[in-house]
Amino acid sequence: MSKIKLAVLGSGTGSNFVSIAEAIEKGELDAEITIVISDVEDALILERAAKFGINAKYISGAPFKTKIEGDAEDKYIEEIIKSGADYIVLAGFMRIIKPKLLKAFKNRILNIHPSLLPAFPGVHSWEQALEYGAKFAGCTVHFVDEGTDTGPIILQKAVPILDDDTAKSLHARIQVQEHIAFPEAIRLIAEDKLKFLTERRIIIKYE
Ligand code: GRF
Repeated sequence: MSKIKLAVLGSGTGSNFVSIAEAIEKGELDAEITIVISDVEDALILERAAKFGINAKYISGAPFKTKIEGDAEDKYIEEIIKSGADYIVLAGFMRIIKPKLLKAFKNRILNIHPSLLPAFPGVHSWEQALEYGAKFAGCTVHFVDEGTDTGPIILQKAVPILDDDTAKSLHARIQVQEHIAFPEAIRLIAEDKLKFLTERRIIIKYE
């Protein structure tokens, strides 16, 4: 099977991007990152991508603040396709993906979310979990659909919420698991191990 090619989109620090790039470097993940795109000009993820020798590009999402649509969406699609990517990895990309891009990459866009979905979608999920009084939090890797954090789940990792947790300590514990979960989910795709039982329900094939 040919190597899976990934376009990584991110708006922030890019620690999840680093976990994927390192897994590739260590030979733990047979994949290639063809491009890293950010909607934030000075995002750390772009600097980190350049250090890995990966093509890193800022593409504005304007005039919108929370979504990618219109001309910006066309530019994203053009650059991603030009890079040769067959999957899109959202690694802290803070914009909603609209139907045109979703259609161009149907079931080929992955996101990582810092909660055990469907609990606590949206922003600052670890704070939501803490305030709610939940005893477990975690992260979810899922395919992206038209909803916010609603697509079919590939895998989840749980962490306990401790009595003395702050938002910061809980987020840090979740991020440790994110950095394991994201490369693992991509590896399952690269090795063709995922099977859709229904439109929502994905299982891992073990031969
Ligand atoms: C992660 O917590 C991820 O779950 C969320 O955005 C954050 C990105 O962090 N979607 P980083 O930029 O990968 O460090």
